[in-house]
Amino acid sequence: MDKRNRIIIFDTTLRDGEQSPGASLNIADKLKIAKQLVKLGVDVIEAGFPVASQGDFESVRTIAKQVRGASIAGLARATKKDIDVCWNAVKYAAKPRVHTFIATSDIHLKHKLKRTRQQVLKDTASAVRHAKKYTDDVEFSAEDASRSDFNYLCKVIETAIKAGATTINVPDTVGYAMPHEFGGLVKSLIETVPNSCKAVFSVHCHNDLGMAAASSISAIVGGARQVECTINGLGERAGNASLEEVVMSINTRKKLLKVHTSIKTEEIYKTSRMVSKLTGLNVQANKAIVGKNAFAHEAGIHQDGMIKHALTYEIMTPESVGVVESRLVLGKHSGRHAFRRKLASMGYKLNEKEIEKAFMQLKGLADKKKEVFDEDIEAIVENEVVHVQEKYKLQYINVTSGNKTVPTATISLSVHDKGRKERTVQEAACGDGPVDAALKAIDRITGIKCKLDDYKLRSVSRGKDAIGEVTVRIVPVSGKESFVVNGRGASTDIIEASAKAYVNAINRLLARTK
Ligand code: KIV
Ligand code: ZN
Repeated sequence: MDKRNRIIIFDTTLRDGEQSPGASLNIADKLKIAKQLVKLGVDVIEAGFPVASQGDFESVRTIAKQVRGASIAGLARATKKDIDVCWNAVKYAAKPRVHTFIATSDIHLKHKLKRTRQQVLKDTASAVRHAKKYTDDVEFSAEDASRSDFNYLCKVIETAIKAGATTINVPDTVGYAMPHEFGGLVKSLIETVPNSCKAVFSVHCHNDLGMAAASSISAIVGGARQVECTINGLGERAGNASLEEVVMSINTRKKLLKVHTSIKTEEIYKTSRMVSKLTGLNVQANKAIVGKNAFAHEAGIHQDGMIKHALTYEIMTPESVGVVESRLVLGKHSGRHAFRRKLASMGYKLNEKEIEKAFMQLKGLADKKKEVFDEDIEAIVENEVVHVQEKYKLQYINVTSGNKTVPTATISLSVHDKGRKERTVQEAACGDGPVDAALKAIDRITGIKCKLDDYKLRSVSRGKDAIGEVTVRIVPVSGKESFVVNGRGASTDIIEASAKAYVNAINRLLARTK
């Protein structure tokens, strides 16, 4: 692949992303995210703003010391002190970067910095030169570039490159630019600044008008080769360009854009979930790429199309971003086709009459609640349509267990075969623990091969004598069936509750496969 078409992904989740109102991460959280960002394949991690607080300094230093596989950048205003502190934090990295910035728009100069254009030019040169004493990898940002006077901006950038900046970042700090305008700005800067070929042009777009990802893509078309972005689009105010949107736009439209990144897209969803969990900021359901609904289809026409060919309504596969599969959400807009498929995926083998009966029940339920879950379908089918017959019932359980004995269980089940007299079957088995022994004894009686996929125990009342409720999830291992079945059982004896839950799951499994 042509190196000139490689887009450097600069992730600023830990710096600008952490500036999101409500987001706050401790050092351990930041370290965890930084390690995941390396797995994701980002090129640069902006780990924080070291001069901002002792905590920020510590976290940048810890990440610089412990994280390998990406450049580690720290942010610094264009002052000697900021740059010194920044360097002291990032210097432990295998590839440290100092990212210094100063505002260049007249609005910022007049009201915030109270400095003249000439003074800011001087500050730019001395800040970059100072950073350059420490490292070759110096990035310079012209804050509020999109609202700066073009000729003055060119002068500042030329000065920064002359002083040694190797990356020039053009921020749309307040998310004011329109995508075509911003792409045009980057293109004109590259064409006008005389030494522009000596630096990589970068962009950093905020999302105040919802244009951040679009403006970043437009800037790539204009010649930018680094994009600054965050996971889930976190960031100051309305956030920054979202990494997943930028990267998946590049991947999905590669023939048009003719650029590439080093991102392992299959890690996107996992990273998004981690960042959401650790920052406490939920991802909106309809967020592109990583929202809960990004690969969910509810309308009957869409579901029908999806079943026939996923390309009808999906421009990328959910697997490509690490989402296990598309969800056909059953709701009031769903059609019979999707429902039939759902029943089959859950292992139900129903005849046409039964399917129709269950479908009518589903529609009734979907009118009352927005989304119908697997548990709702189980309840409809098993209570209203097929009426689960309890083939097996727990009669007797005896378990010996302890830290110096091999756990052994003896189980008696009553077996009720249609048209035959009820009989009792008893078996015993040893196991790794009393639950394992009990379930093995049950397996011997039923002869059904299944894997215990999940096991949960919770107390449903208070005190030491509380009732324990066990839920199990089993997966049949024989044949080509691949669905899960849940079972539930309760008792003050948790081994008995486990056996009951397992027997319940097996009865439900038999109801599905008839
Ligand atoms: O939005 C912005 O301009 C910034 C700079 C410090 C790069 O975050
Ligand atoms: Zn920013």
